[in-house]
Amino acid sequence: MNGKNNVFQPITTELVTKLRSMVGDNHFSTDPEVLRDHGHDETEDLLFMPEAVVWPGTVAELSAIMQLCHEERIPVTVRGGGSGLAGGALPIEGGLVLSMKRFDRILNIDDRNFQVTVEPGVVTETLQNTLQERGLYYPPDPSSRGWSFIGGNINTNAGGPRAVKYGVVKDHVLNLEVVLPGGEVIWTGANTLKNSTGYNLTQLLVGSEGTLGVVSKIVLKLQPLPTQQLLMLAPFRSAESACAAVAAIFQAGVTPSALEFMERSAIEWAVRYVGESPVPIGDDDAAHLLIEVDGFHAESLLADCETISRVLENFDCGEVFFADNDAQKTGLWKLRRNVAHAVKKNSIYKEEDTVVPRAELPVLLKTVKEIGARYGFESVCYGHAGDGNLHVNILRGDLDDKSWNEEVPKGIREIFALVKNLGGTLSGEHGVGYVQRPYMDIFFSETEMRLRREIKKVFDPNGILNPGKVI
Ligand code: LAC
Ligand code: ZN
Repeated sequence: MNGKNNVFQPITTELVTKLRSMVGDNHFSTDPEVLRDHGHDETEDLLFMPEAVVWPGTVAELSAIMQLCHEERIPVTVRGGGSGLAGGALPIEGGLVLSMKRFDRILNIDDRNFQVTVEPGVVTETLQNTLQERGLYYPPDPSSRGWSFIGGNINTNAGGPRAVKYGVVKDHVLNLEVVLPGGEVIWTGANTLKNSTGYNLTQLLVGSEGTLGVVSKIVLKLQPLPTQQLLMLAPFRSAESACAAVAAIFQAGVTPSALEFMERSAIEWAVRYVGESPVPIGDDDAAHLLIEVDGFHAESLLADCETISRVLENFDCGEVFFADNDAQKTGLWKLRRNVAHAVKKNSIYKEEDTVVPRAELPVLLKTVKEIGARYGFESVCYGHAGDGNLHVNILRGDLDDKSWNEEVPKGIREIFALVKNLGGTLSGEHGVGYVQRPYMDIFFSETEMRLRREIKKVFDPNGILNPGKVI
């Protein structure tokens, strides 16, 4: 969608020559196969071909590219690992895809201050593993951490299972270096734990999905790596009682380091996809909670598990499986982390990243199913129940184009209207991107949207950065 001020220009042969000379022949491509690879992320089956892909290697190159695209009005879609589920990395206006792949260095691990400075193209898990060797912990761990980039995590304000205890990405970002569309390079904050100096540009950039600037360096806050984890899988005969147990666990005074919900088809499909499971799934199990506690003292974690077990007894919970070795723990987490892949293997799906205050989860789940029944779609629900963050995966199955493109979105609108009534919002951790944008009006008034558009204009007056996303 071209906004009124955004009359984009094509990447002419002359511009191709300029861009090539900025980065070198090996770091620029118009090869159709490469364009296709960069025309999709993990969102549904959507594909938008860019006109060119560039892989800058330095901030100076990045700055020169941005300046050129700003002046020439070339749309720029910044791309990380391509694991996004809201279409944030889709180059829907064509133009240039700017891949951050070569920004892959961990620049400085500051043990003294519990901080790390990192480039955006570092794979999340690589960063976590490197820190772990030094006893340091960076908690946000989206399921895609094996291939998502830390820069993409910043841009979506990603979460993952550990967010329930440690917070989402925003809670760990201290400072960002950002290249603006005009080519200027700024820092948003300071490398301090506290900062009370006016507008918080750092947090404005977190979750901005590549619409305001290109993040080129990231300073993250770290903490000591917990030494112990206990993990349990609790089966329930009703999915709603599983959801109802979630708030009760916190009310009993325990904050788990993960509290994940999977309805039956989610875990069943994951078992089939992964090919093994540390524990059989019972015939009567309608849903499971995967619950982890972590810390430094075994006795206190055992006490937490006892408290949790007592709470679960009130919610028609079956026999709880305690993972008592690393292989079992890894096996359970492997199932949980592969749910999205397993769902995708079964069907194209629309991912609705709903989030509500956690005690409202049972109502959310129940009503999602009712809405699905009315509109004729199946859904697989799972997610970060401790955060009230339920991934509602709406399956295409054998729905025809009309149902998929016209009827299902009406059902989705109803789901989001419910989410809003329950005090929730449009996305917990995947972002607005391209596919959730049509639902923004449910959550924001015209004034609230206008403020967002004005902010966008201040950063990106020509509207070249990730056009057609978020706002
Ligand atoms: C997950 C991703 C899809 O929770 O957010 O597995
Ligand atoms: Zn998730």
